Amino acid sequence: MSEAAADAPAFRFAQISDPHLSDLSGVRWSQLASKRVLGYLSWRRRRRHEHRPEMLAALSADLHAIAPAHTIVSGDLTHIALPGEFREASDWLRQLGPAEAVTVVPGNHDRYVHTPWAESLGLWSSFMSSDGASAEHGAEHLFPLLRVRGPLAFIGLDSAVPSPPFMATGRLGKRQLERLADILERLRGSGLLRVLVLHHPPVPGEEKWRKRLVDAPALCALLARHPVDMVLHGHRHRAHQSVIRIPGSEIPVFGIPSASAAGVLSNYPAEYNLYDIIRDDASWRVRVSARRFDAATRAFAGRELASFALRHAESR
Ligand SMILES: [Fe+2]
Ligand SMILES: [Fe+2]
Repeated sequence: MSEAAADAPAFRFAQISDPHLSDLSGVRWSQLASKRVLGYLSWRRRRRHEHRPEMLAALSADLHAIAPAHTIVSGDLTHIALPGEFREASDWLRQLGPAEAVTVVPGNHDRYVHTPWAESLGLWSSFMSSDGASAEHGAEHLFPLLRVRGPLAFIGLDSAVPSPPFMATGRLGKRQLERLADILERLRGSGLLRVLVLHHPPVPGEEKWRKRLVDAPALCALLARHPVDMVLHGHRHRAHQSVIRIPGSEIPVFGIPSASAAGVLSNYPAEYNLYDIIRDDASWRVRVSARRFDAATRAFAGRELASFALRHAESR
């Protein structure tokens, strides 16, 4: 077998995050109750210059050309969680791919304030439901979601909660953590590689206090008992690699920039990650690469970020 054939991925998936794709230019002041006023003013002053539809369109075109077997969207599709934004994002998701091939977890902007399920996240429920489950009535029925694709088990968590003004914290809650432990226990010995996805960064102390995942310590303690093979997140709008330290090992963690970023508010223009799962004799390896928008060529170009053996699923 040639070296190229030996290195061919058995499964390739993509992760995109934080598209913040909705346009608020037609919003009326009467729609802006409570915290939404602050979010709208932030969009007018700054965010509309950073999150650009042409950047997201270019990224989507590159992603379609690459044609991964599955795409993860790790939250923050909207700005202030207005019903019109959920409809706009729903249309965009359908263009991205069929619900079986696209998995979504919500971000804090998608629960900016309390919004009725049916006119908000309920519109995306087919992208958030587990294999074999019907789209239920609320996130408490959907999460953690479990989808098995190729050699992988994607496990999605909902860390999005409404928070006070100027806060962007996340929380998983005791019930969701208990269900996560049950799922990981059931997957033990299945041979499936476990990919955990949530919006907020999971490593305690790495995110600003006002933007942190409140129960990150509880999540990491759970993962020490029930390891996964990697954790993917969004929220920070920057490329970030980290690890969760567990007894005798560590779990790789990847965060990525916004899929619509022009790069005017940060040094992170639109980018997404590809994860190539490669059979390596009796084990598995993953090659992680990023595809970033290059302003000079007006095109996306790839670079390798990491390559490592996946161990936990087979040894635990
Ligand atoms: Fe975001
Ligand atoms: Fe966020």
